[in-house]
Amino acid sequence: MAELVSTGDRPITEEADFLQIKSIDHIHFWVGNALQSMYYWSKGFGFKVTAFSGLETGNRRFASYVLESGKIRFILSSAYGPSDEMSAHQLLHGDGVKVVALQVDDVEEAYAATMERGARSAWAPKEEADDSGVYRTSAIHTYGEVLHVFVDRSDYEGVFAPTYEPRNPGNPATDLVAVDHVVGNVELGKMDTWVKFYHSVMGFRQLLHFDDEDISTEYSALMSKVMQDGTGRVKFPINEPAEGKRKSQIEEYLDFYVTPGVQHIAMATGDILATVKKLQRNGIQFLRVPDTYYDILPDRIGPIDEPLDEIRKLGILADRDDEGYLLQIFSKPIQDRPTAFIEVIERHGSRGFGKGNFKALFEALEIEQDRRGNL
Ligand code: FE2
Repeated sequence: MAELVSTGDRPITEEADFLQIKSIDHIHFWVGNALQSMYYWSKGFGFKVTAFSGLETGNRRFASYVLESGKIRFILSSAYGPSDEMSAHQLLHGDGVKVVALQVDDVEEAYAATMERGARSAWAPKEEADDSGVYRTSAIHTYGEVLHVFVDRSDYEGVFAPTYEPRNPGNPATDLVAVDHVVGNVELGKMDTWVKFYHSVMGFRQLLHFDDEDISTEYSALMSKVMQDGTGRVKFPINEPAEGKRKSQIEEYLDFYVTPGVQHIAMATGDILATVKKLQRNGIQFLRVPDTYYDILPDRIGPIDEPLDEIRKLGILADRDDEGYLLQIFSKPIQDRPTAFIEVIERHGSRGFGKGNFKALFEALEIEQDRRGNL
C-alpha cells in the first residue's frame, strides 16, 4: 500500500458531506455526430431517446439528444458550426465526456462551498426558464476539460432542460439501471492532486487503494484510487499511469484524448447475463480474456448463482471479496480513438471494482493495444 494523502482538515478516509449529492443527474458526451451517436446508444445499448434539442426547438447552436435507461441519463450533443467550443473540443479529443452532472438541492450553495474550498469556476449559478419552470445550474472544472455541473431541477417539470422537447421513446431498454462509477484518467504524477481535489473541494473520501503491484502486467501498469461521496452513491475512481516496460493503457488514452478525461463509465444491471446477451446481439463489442481465465475461476471465486458455462460463453468476468462477489464486462472503445469505454456490472454484495480481474483484463487490453501499434 502506498501512503494515503492527507488534505489537512480531516483524514482522507473521512467524508464531509456538504454537497449532499442526490444522484448523478446526467453525463454529457460531446460528439462529432449526435444523430449517429444517438443511433448507437439506442440500437446498441438499448437506451430510450426521450428528448431532443436543436434547430427545430429553437436551439441554433447544437443538436442534442437525451437518452435514458433506468436512472441513467446520457446527453449527446454536437455543434452546428465550426466556431463553437464543442467543435474545438471535438477536434482535440474526438468524442468524449464533457460533463458529469450532479443533482443537488441548491446550486448556489454547492457552487459557494466548492469555490471557497478552491474549485475553478466554469459558470456561476444561473437560471434558465421556459413554460415548464426554472432549471438551475452552476459548474466547476475537474480533471482535463471535464466539468461537474450542479443541477437543481426541483422547480423544473420539463423533459430535461429548456429548449429540449420530448421524443417518443419507442425503444426497449436493456436492463441497465444506474451509473455505478465513473473513472477518470489523469496525467502521470497527478493522481494525488485529484484525490485531494475530491477530498477537500468536493467533500469525498477515499474508499480503496490499489497500487501498481496490484495492477500491473509485464508491460503495462496503473495506479488507481477510488473517491466516494457521503451517500456512497457517487464513486469516482482516478487512474494515473505507472512506469512499465512499454506504454500503459492510461498513456495510450492520454495520447489519443490529448488531455485527462473520463476513461470509463460503469453501468449497473440486475441481470448481466440477459443484458450482455442483448448487447452482443446488438453488435456491441467486448474485451475477451484468454479462455484459461475460466479454468481457474471456480477455485478463485467459489460458488456463484449464475451458471459458469454461460459466464464463460459471454466472456463475463467475476471477482469476490469479503462482502460478496461481482460480475463485470468491459466494452471495446466506443469511438474510433482508443479512449472511453463502457463497463457493465452486477453486484452481489461486493463493493469492489474487480481487482482480481485486473491482470487478466490488462493482458486482454494489451493484445488490443498491440493490434493498434500502441504498445
Ligand atoms: Fe470500473
